[in-house]
Amino acid sequence: MNPADIDINRVPKHVAIIMDGNGRWAKKKHLPRIAGHKRGMETVEEITTAASNLGVKLLTLYAFSTENWKRPEKEVKYIMSLPSTFFDRFIPKLIANNIQVKTIGNVDQLPAKTLAAVRKAQEDTKDCTGMVLNFALNYGSRAEIVDTTKKIATLVKNDQLDIDNISEQLFNSNLETSKFGDLSDPDLLIRTSGEERISNFLLWQIAYSEFIFVDKMWPDYHEDDFKQTIIDFQSRHRRFGGLKNK
Ligand code: FPP
Repeated sequence: MNPADIDINRVPKHVAIIMDGNGRWAKKKHLPRIAGHKRGMETVEEITTAASNLGVKLLTLYAFSTENWKRPEKEVKYIMSLPSTFFDRFIPKLIANNIQVKTIGNVDQLPAKTLAAVRKAQEDTKDCTGMVLNFALNYGSRAEIVDTTKKIATLVKNDQLDIDNISEQLFNSNLETSKFGDLSDPDLLIRTSGEERISNFLLWQIAYSEFIFVDKMWPDYHEDDFKQTIIDFQSRHRRFGGLKNK
């Protein structure tokens, strides 16, 4: 990998990552699963800094899905403690790098302490104007789509919207990701750990995203690996359903 191979003018604006493999990484080292999440948190710091330095505008990280509550209580509790550990350590660096923190997902259902840490991070970084670091927390794409449908149905029911005016654009502008404006759809979706699944992540938004599946476990995924993924992305030709060079 030669970082000089990155075309700085064609860095994907929105990168979304399914950070998978923490548990397997730990198991291979005969460590408890939570040790994998701890190392995974350090990877979050490294990749966030790398993405910001490359000029990525929005980095969405799948930190906790609506399905992850099914995990053992001890593991869920540990993952829920990570945001406060992470932000306590990393907020000064986020601010120094002009990175703003946001979230998607049903954060109101998070434990009070986790929610407080997330809210504080958002408040502390609200004036940052560089990259947005967006954590998907208690996020599920089907739930997001159902919530959006309910919002639109309510508008119709209250005679505030005509059914004929329901369009892709209107649906899009009622999704939670509409707060990111033009950036709401990822240009690139990365999943680590060798699994090739979407796992209920941004189903609407990835209609035209490039998918790159990386074999390394998330704790083993480093800055150089991320740069290589960007180079791989740049070798692809996105046509959005049209024809090349048109
Ligand atoms: C997937 O690995 C990882 C998770 C469900 C948790 C992700 C959380 C982090 C990387 C840390 C988040 C940091 C912050 C700041 C919120 P897995 O447990 O599914 O791995 P496995 O498939 O090998 O079991």
